[in-house]
Amino acid sequence: MPFSRRDFLQHAGGLLGAGILAGTRLAHAAPMAMPMRRKAAMLAAPDVPLVNPVSLAHFVDPLPIPSLAQPAGTHTHPGYPGRTLPYYRMEMRAFEARLHRDLPPTPLWGYAGSFPGPTIRAAKDAPLLVEWVNALPSSHFLPIDHGVHGAERDKPDVRAVAHVHGAKTAADSDGFPEAWFAPGQSALYAYPNAQDASTLWYHDHALGITRLNIYAGLAGAWIIDDAHEQSLGLPAGDADIPLLLCDRFVAQDGQLYYPVSDDPAAPWVMQCNGNLTLCNGRIFPYHEVEPKAYRFRLINAANSSYFDLSLSNGRALVQIGSDQGLLPAPAERARITLYPAERAEVLLDFSGMDGQTLILRNQEQDILQWRVRDRGGKNVASFALPAKLRDVPRLDPKHAVRERLLTLEETDDADGNAMQMLLDGKHWHDPVAETPRVGDTEIWSFINLSGDTHPIHLHLVRFQVLDRRPFDLFAWATRRKLVYTDPAEPPPAHEAGWKDTVRCDPGLVTRIIARFDGEPGRYVWHCHMLEHEDNDMMRPFDLLPAPKPRA
Ligand code: C2O
Ligand code: CU
Ligand code: CU
Repeated sequence: MPFSRRDFLQHAGGLLGAGILAGTRLAHAAPMAMPMRRKAAMLAAPDVPLVNPVSLAHFVDPLPIPSLAQPAGTHTHPGYPGRTLPYYRMEMRAFEARLHRDLPPTPLWGYAGSFPGPTIRAAKDAPLLVEWVNALPSSHFLPIDHGVHGAERDKPDVRAVAHVHGAKTAADSDGFPEAWFAPGQSALYAYPNAQDASTLWYHDHALGITRLNIYAGLAGAWIIDDAHEQSLGLPAGDADIPLLLCDRFVAQDGQLYYPVSDDPAAPWVMQCNGNLTLCNGRIFPYHEVEPKAYRFRLINAANSSYFDLSLSNGRALVQIGSDQGLLPAPAERARITLYPAERAEVLLDFSGMDGQTLILRNQEQDILQWRVRDRGGKNVASFALPAKLRDVPRLDPKHAVRERLLTLEETDDADGNAMQMLLDGKHWHDPVAETPRVGDTEIWSFINLSGDTHPIHLHLVRFQVLDRRPFDLFAWATRRKLVYTDPAEPPPAHEAGWKDTVRCDPGLVTRIIARFDGEPGRYVWHCHMLEHEDNDMMRPFDLLPAPKPRA
């Protein structure tokens, strides 16, 4: 029996997606002239019995802390003539891991045979090289849709290309989606790390199967440190921990289950909201901590779910950083909403909490339990967080050389099942339209015509959120006129820092501003809901050389 996507989420016990779907759908809003490539399809009922989250004991597995990647030696690179740089080798391999004490081992793919992969930790301005090695098997274990761009039958099933999300690299080291390589092949990429301290992450980016490769486990953390941040004396060492969050469906035999449509010829589905939340690859883990302050780097590595995070003791979370490093000032938040690919760094002070426990929750569901060791209450001094974390000079819209109006669109069938998503009405293979020049400051205005929130990500640049503003959908649909209906909302405190992924809600124009610095070349921008990105919500952009000064 076919299910609508709403039925499916309820059937699977997945509460995560419910919030996304709850908003009013702006049906027939988008002026769609696109030829339909796919027939409408409903979600199929899973063909295997799935693990029910209610059946799993909470807090029986210790939280895995990803190992720190170590260089395998040094190496040269054409981008750094006359130098040798630290050289890391990251082999993508199939392996098995237990996601929970009471589940059979789960076959996964991971960098260095682990999920999350080892954390790469680099100092600002200390370049390094990574050889990304595809040592995966030659067949995929998740359902490829050969009708999706770049995943046609003439391509190898297993393709991989690594991208460091949020890193400023040259185009030939950025993991362009078409620069994938097959098992037995590798690519040597250079990372300048010439950017502020931040929590980045690396993940697969192969065209048309990114959602499957990341779902299989190809993701890890990448952290950049700098002197300014170190001068603040934030918790470090074993008190500085990345928490990579994602969700999955797991079959009772331990295999990952990835949802499919009821059309075997077109299995792609518009979103995947698993019913089990994984924190560093484990379901409901616990983490023993000292009664002192910790820094947790939350990364949303889910395919399409957002996380709505809060603490079980009702205290606010203290957010100190976002996608591209520290905020100007700490922001206290009762709940932190994190969309796919967004990061939030939080400071949690366990001093004086000897012997107590605390739970990190997603909505009302447990994710992770902290157990504070009893040191007899000797450490009662809580960590003194500086009131100011760093300068984030605001980019001035007056300095923008252009504003690009870019629509976010979705083609739905009559039941509201999306068939594909597009950026500015264009497909991946359409000619490049966004062509900033080196040094240009630009405003990109995302006009969301769809009924879903889309987290939009730009490679290469960091940006600031300017504002969000409701607009008249009818005026756009009939006259292609942007008519605002309400005043613009400036970004809240937790969005006052540098970002690389921005939440774009339905019915709003979300404006960002960026200065396009970097190596000229071809990069991408896309929705970071991986199902959308794969079909067809991703576009190339070209960074053009700066104009020659006139003689
Ligand atoms: Cu997280 Cu195009 O990347
Ligand atoms: Cu990226
Ligand atoms: Cu999207």
